[in-house]
Amino acid sequence: MYYLEQATEKHLDEIVDIYMNDLNVAILTYFGRGFIYKMCLDLIERKCATVACLDSGKVIGFIFSVSDNTHLYKYLNFDSLFSLFKKVIFSYSALKTFILSFFLIFLGRDKVKSNIGRALELAHFAVLGEYKGKGIGTDLLNDFEYKAMIEGFNCVFTSSHNKSLVDFYVRTRSAKFLYQTNVGGYTSYGVIWELKNKLY
Ligand SMILES: CC(C)(COP(=O)(O)OP(=O)(O)OC[C@H]1O[C@@H](n2cnc3c(N)ncnc32)[C@H](O)[C@@H]1OP(=O)(O)O)[C@@H](O)C(=O)NCCC(=O)NCCS
Repeated sequence: MYYLEQATEKHLDEIVDIYMNDLNVAILTYFGRGFIYKMCLDLIERKCATVACLDSGKVIGFIFSVSDNTHLYKYLNFDSLFSLFKKVIFSYSALKTFILSFFLIFLGRDKVKSNIGRALELAHFAVLGEYKGKGIGTDLLNDFEYKAMIEGFNCVFTSSHNKSLVDFYVRTRSAKFLYQTNVGGYTSYGVIWELKNKLY
């Protein structure tokens, strides 16, 4: 059995472990664990994160929202830049993915978001290894949507490399594609869907 609760600092280390292992496709992990730690801490302090925990308290998944134009630069320091350097210096594909993602997705994101009205961004979403595929992500997502509706948002915006997840959004939420961008190592899909009143 598991339960959902608002993330607090006590969950932070486990969230970062899951992030670094299960979301390691995300280019933000190129900046290293310290960067992810600072970003997650900031979002947790702003009450933007929900975790799924086993009865023992072990964290098995998380979902984060971002409702403003958060500037990731504020989490950078020397260590994170060095981490990025180490990641890209020996890997042409990592370098290409980083450059394309930065220019095509991150710099374009504020423009996309400014054109889509009152949408809440689903920014970081993962479930721990062996717990995937058991409906925990769907529970986290339903909870995210419910809270978004209560806060007055009428759409959810997200981008993902995970095509099966994007297809899931299209199938279950009638999500619409905003963009599909090949960033070398993978394709990033930007999608949006309307929040409709439903029984969660
Ligand atoms: C995506 C993810 C958070 C969903 O959580 P989950 O508990 O596995 O989700 P559910 O069991 O409720 O299944 C919902 C959808 O998640 C996707 N999913 C399920 N298991 C998955 C796995 N092992 N790997 C990748 N995606 C998976 C599927 O699209 C599934 O829908 P479908 O079965 O109808 O195709 C989780 O699978 C995960 O952490 N994947 C790797 C990281 C990732 O892709 N994060 C999101 C992108 S930024």
